[in-house]
Amino acid sequence: MNVLINEVKLQTRIKEMARQIEKDYEGKQIVFLGILKGSLPFLWELAKNIKNDVRFEFIEASSYEGTESTGKIKINKDITDSIEGKDVIIVEDIVDTGRTLTYLKEYLLAKHPNSLKIAALLSKPSRRVMEIGVEYIGFQIEDKFVVGFGLDYDQKYRNLPYVGYIE
Ligand code: IMP
Ligand code: MG
Repeated sequence: MNVLINEVKLQTRIKEMARQIEKDYEGKQIVFLGILKGSLPFLWELAKNIKNDVRFEFIEASSYEGTESTGKIKINKDITDSIEGKDVIIVEDIVDTGRTLTYLKEYLLAKHPNSLKIAALLSKPSRRVMEIGVEYIGFQIEDKFVVGFGLDYDQKYRNLPYVGYIE
């Protein structure tokens, strides 16, 4: 396993993102809507650095089997509380083709939040198939399959404290 982004770099960058979100949402309640399962470490690292009233909501969608995108998005577990009128930030581990977020954004907008933005820890711009605006991006990376800090390869490696890749 090779380290692409170490623990300190992750923490430093996520703290910067947290400060930006605090600024943009001054005095507001924020709903962090995490996409399971990969967003968990990122969501927590962001949330613990934000002083706003932060609420958690989770949704599980899948589009991937192994390392290949099937191009299909399915909702396996939906949110449990209403997001109507709320200021929602979708929290995602990585934007790859952009299919998952394009689909989920449309799906969630139909629930009438007051606002809906996206925070992604990683982005692989060269892989994009769907044009999707992502307001907060932690790191842009090249086209490499990465694991750790929530990201998996067949459900493995999510608990690594860094982002790595296998040669
Ligand atoms: P998209 O719909 O193609 O943007 O895919 C997004 C999803 O694919 C992410 O939520 C990840 O679960 C998965 N994914 C994309 N690239 C990687 C990677 O390099 N490592 C692990 N999972 C990935
Ligand atoms: Mg995912």
